Amino acid sequence: TFATSARQASSAPPHPVAFSFDIDGVLKQGKTIVPGAIRALRYLDGHNKYKVKVPYILLTNSGGLSEEIRTKNLSVELGTKIAPHQFIQAHTVLTSLSEKLGKERVLVVGGPNHAITAVRKCMRRYGFEDFFLVHDLQAADPTSWPYSPLDQDQLRSIRKYNRTFSQKFKAVIVFHDSRDWGRDIQIMLDVLRGKDNVWGTLEDQQVLGTKPQIPVYFSHGDLVWGNEFPVPRLGQGAFADAFKAVYKAVTGLDLQYTTFGKPSKLTYEYADKLLKDQIAQQLNAVPSGSNTLTEAEAPNAPAISPTTPDKLKVYMVGDNPESDIRGGNDFGWETCLVQTGVYKSSQGQPKYPATMIVQDVEEAVRTALEREW
Ligand code: G3P
Ligand code: MG
Repeated sequence: TFATSARQASSAPPHPVAFSFDIDGVLKQGKTIVPGAIRALRYLDGHNKYKVKVPYILLTNSGGLSEEIRTKNLSVELGTKIAPHQFIQAHTVLTSLSEKLGKERVLVVGGPNHAITAVRKCMRRYGFEDFFLVHDLQAADPTSWPYSPLDQDQLRSIRKYNRTFSQKFKAVIVFHDSRDWGRDIQIMLDVLRGKDNVWGTLEDQQVLGTKPQIPVYFSHGDLVWGNEFPVPRLGQGAFADAFKAVYKAVTGLDLQYTTFGKPSKLTYEYADKLLKDQIAQQLNAVPSGSNTLTEAEAPNAPAISPTTPDKLKVYMVGDNPESDIRGGNDFGWETCLVQTGVYKSSQGQPKYPATMIVQDVEEAVRTALEREW
């Protein structure tokens, strides 16, 4: 069989292993590549004791640009091809909302302040047709948020979208981390307390509490995240907490909302599917007629043999116990907690125990492969 021949050619691994890598705090610190990250991925590209390709995906709560743009940039930065089907970011799962909300008027919040066109393209790719960014509303009436006016670069990608907003908004989607909390909280609050959710109007306070609130979605809930700064930075979870506090103070109501991203089960289910699709694709890549692989072909051979796909062991490598380790543990994956991001051993034992606590992603990969193979 394939497994036997591969074992003869390069003594195939006893069972398949796969990895799911977080990005911020694991492979990158802000714009900087973590030392050892490139070597870690080379191990998985075939430079390991069985000379097999170990499947992996990148699973991140970061975002802002399309999966195509992000994976193209990451392929250059990490020195290996990262395909869009190996990549899940905070807002990738928004496609799951488009059936219900694709034709509804949706307010889109967050994402890079100077990549407004890229955010629009992303949302259209996900199947949304009638959405407006906070920037569009602010451009339509600058007095809505006078403290941080839009600059010429932003206005250039907005002018043609400048339409009246008399229609009702049906949902609010926080596409990614807000870059202007004050403006975004203000505009989100306007829409949620508008009469019939029409921007620039005000629902009667008593009525507001009796009507169903329109849905609010956050693309992830990270309270903090790790970049080059020595102390973790506030993330979208902190923004959500701020919004909830303002919404409560102004309306007296508790916000109803849904949070995607890690550690949500939906996100890990999506990641699991991508991994298994990738493995199936690798298996099919082995020419069905020729079960024997030459040594040269071995590095491209899958680390999974047709006989043991159910024994797949997945390792989640992350820096944030609350999202990476908790989500991986809950999904039944092994977990590696690195110390190049949010978590540091000086903080004591993490709230969510990992299979192993290691220094960095290279140690995580080496230790996991030694542990399994
Ligand atoms: O905004 C991204 C940040 O919250 C975490 O990103 O890659 O560590 O999941 P990541
Ligand atoms: Mg991280």
